Amino acid sequence: MSFDEKPIDFENKQRGYAELAQALTGLLTGERDRVANAANTAALLFSALPGINWVGFYFAAGRELVVGPFQGKPACVRIAFGSGACGRAAADRETILVPDVHAFPGHIACDAASRSEIVVPLLRGGRLLGVLDVDSPALARFDEIDRAGLERVAEIFLSATD
Ligand code: SME
Repeated sequence: MSFDEKPIDFENKQRGYAELAQALTGLLTGERDRVANAANTAALLFSALPGINWVGFYFAAGRELVVGPFQGKPACVRIAFGSGACGRAAADRETILVPDVHAFPGHIACDAASRSEIVVPLLRGGRLLGVLDVDSPALARFDEIDRAGLERVAEIFLSATD
């Protein structure tokens, strides 16, 4: 398989996310392995999304999250449910947008350059599989269009993966 890396145009964010969803669906077709699909999802997001410095997965293990495939600087490995933005999204089972990480109580700084963040929980039939985390060096980088677009990415990943 080769991946034709035609850049996705995010000038119109909604259209960008629609193209991204299509590219991701194609990329994951024919493979059910969780690590393989998480790795390719992180790689596609990192190359496609403008203005981000970290993207990746944390998978649930008991009452903690353990880092999975990602792109960006090395990250903290284990995060307790309820801690930081990732642990909060996992505990609440809801997407969280953090416009300024310095103003978020308990934020866990992995890359000091990160200024804003979005975390989407991965839920399958009421079970929390983990979270998808995206960080940006820009303040308030993520909005409701990113929320919808990344929740769609999470759905595509979940339905393509065992
Ligand atoms: N900032 C996250 C930790 C994970 S890293 O950003 C990769 C948090 O507060 O949960």
